[in-house]
Amino acid sequence: MKSQIESLRRELEQHNYNYYVLSTPTISDFDFDAKLKQLQELEAAHPEFFDPNSPTQRIGSDIASGFEQVAHVYPMLSLGNTYSEGEVQDFYERVRKGLNEEFELVCELKYDGTSISLTYEDGLLVRAVTRGDGEKGDDVTANVKTIRSIPLRLNGNYPPKFEIRGEILMPWSVFDELNREREEQEEQLFANPRNAASGTLKLQNSKMVASRKLDAYFYYLLGEKLPSDLHSGNLQAAHSWGFKISEATKVCKTLDEVSAFINQWDVERKNLPVATDGIVLKVNSIQQQRALGFTAKSPRWAIAYKFQAEKAVTRLNSVSYQVGRTGAVTPVANLDPVQLSGTIVKRASLHNADIIESLDLHVGDMVFVEKGGEIIPKITAVDKDARVLIGDKVRFIKNCPECGATLIRYEGEAAHYCPNENACPPQIKGKMEHFVSRKAMNIDGLGSETINLLYQNGLLHNIADIYSLKIPDMIPLERLGTKSAYNIKDGAEKSKEVPFERVVFALGIRFVGETIAKKLAYAFKNIEALEKSTLEELVAVDEIGERIAQSVVQYFADSANVETVNRLKSFGLQMNLSEEKLQAHSTALAGLSIVISGTFSQHSRDEYKSMIEMNGGKNVGSVSSKTSFILAGENMGPEKLKKAEKLGVKLVDEKTFLTMLSFENQSDINFIE
Ligand code: IVH
Repeated sequence: MKSQIESLRRELEQHNYNYYVLSTPTISDFDFDAKLKQLQELEAAHPEFFDPNSPTQRIGSDIASGFEQVAHVYPMLSLGNTYSEGEVQDFYERVRKGLNEEFELVCELKYDGTSISLTYEDGLLVRAVTRGDGEKGDDVTANVKTIRSIPLRLNGNYPPKFEIRGEILMPWSVFDELNREREEQEEQLFANPRNAASGTLKLQNSKMVASRKLDAYFYYLLGEKLPSDLHSGNLQAAHSWGFKISEATKVCKTLDEVSAFINQWDVERKNLPVATDGIVLKVNSIQQQRALGFTAKSPRWAIAYKFQAEKAVTRLNSVSYQVGRTGAVTPVANLDPVQLSGTIVKRASLHNADIIESLDLHVGDMVFVEKGGEIIPKITAVDKDARVLIGDKVRFIKNCPECGATLIRYEGEAAHYCPNENACPPQIKGKMEHFVSRKAMNIDGLGSETINLLYQNGLLHNIADIYSLKIPDMIPLERLGTKSAYNIKDGAEKSKEVPFERVVFALGIRFVGETIAKKLAYAFKNIEALEKSTLEELVAVDEIGERIAQSVVQYFADSANVETVNRLKSFGLQMNLSEEKLQAHSTALAGLSIVISGTFSQHSRDEYKSMIEMNGGKNVGSVSSKTSFILAGENMGPEKLKKAEKLGVKLVDEKTFLTMLSFENQSDINFIE
């Protein structure tokens, strides 16, 4: 059995490599998924063959992990930046003088993502740490394992231990799709793929990370026994072990060659699937790198050349204001159409009142529009010299453009909101769109246009009205028809089976996203308890802070919301956590803070995390005096062990832990002394 599991693992690893590193798939998605499922089943049936680097570990887990801080063995420095070829020439001269001998430069693309340092031991990925402050970063190994182009196990002739550094990126296509979904859900958009990649890497839920389809390129090898004395040789070797190395890498002997590389990629980078913001130049010989050394902040043997962000100048004609589902008001600049990075720009985001104020905008101004790494162009400055006549100063509106209500601004927030939640048309329609969306009640047949039509015709005022819609009222509506009317009714009927946690999400309570809704549903178990919950009870729930708690209390303090919820209840929506989920959620570990350390044979670490949470406990990353006990596997980390001894924190082994969960009586727990 072991050999069957092993051979499936090797086969899936090869397919992953072919698809994500070489971009040449050798199996259909369907067959890949089938094989992965088969491996999952075999691993579940044989926990004794658990392997933390198995391809099944790339699926991620739903369980919040909390990141442990890890010190970098070699600090993660940044690069000196240059913005002109003249400055590149200065760098070249400094290197020439510093070395006083011939040298080569490796030109690479500067990837615009978030940097990562991976440690491999005996060919296995053991740790992935973010840059952090350069000295120490977050251990994000579980999240990084979900990135398919990162090898969990290497091929060929690699050193026994080394670090490799690179950039984690969110491809443009994934970024666009993610922002489209977020727009639909009225969640805040990511400004650029860099923020999206780093935000994703810090998610507490590795299953969500897996769904975001990150990619990674590697550009720097560190360690004792590296394969080559040339940086280019090390990159080639890393490629042969399974890493994705940029094909744009080139060894240059002269400044002219460097210049040609810069000019070529300033244009060609626009066709790449990921964001780049410059070129990195590195002295090729490791020995020469050593001779040049480092300043306090960056290496003397490398430099970055940053591409100019593309800019255009155009006229500001007016500013309009859009009201979203949550009532947030977004100012948008309407511009004379202008060509920028291959597209025609007519509108630009102005973000909020503070930004308008700091730009000192007047209608008719000539403004600079930039795209940079951002997808939505932004106004970066006003060309004040071009002002002939000064138009009206742009002042943020005081009243909602849709319903006239006086706008408010919450303390500490940049946005203005329309508070008229239950009577402002875009908010009502937006709430309904959210309610019927796929991750909420998933009601087919009710898109935003249909909602608008039903709203305009007075058939929908509120989310609960969706369940009292009558087919004869809908059929006569233009653009709807009999089939659609039946579809809507069917969809609404089916949605009555949607589980309680999704109903909580669907209500559209401010700041209550999918994950928080789940936490609330599990903590309060039914709508009555949630409705009655106090601020104190709410903040006592893991991951629920003051801001969310306030919002929940406020939601149920509004009698219109309570009435809506009561109506939904009367229509038969699920307002309790299902019996099955209640059962699975025991309280055997309630109130306990548990650290997991070492490797296990019966279940994976993620499974143990899941068990802790499902039994009411909290899985924490580092040992402190508040730690209840450590779930200790084989080869527990020496630091943790030392700290546990010092603080007198007990260790519980795997077998005992499993016994703890199967007995209510915890008095005879066997601690490892
Ligand atoms: S080399 C000591 N090479 O740019 C040198 N960095 O400010 C280590 N980056 O933190 C970095 N592409 O996140 C290097 N080809 C490349 C790069 C690159 C992107 C990022 C990296 C680093 C930052 C430098």
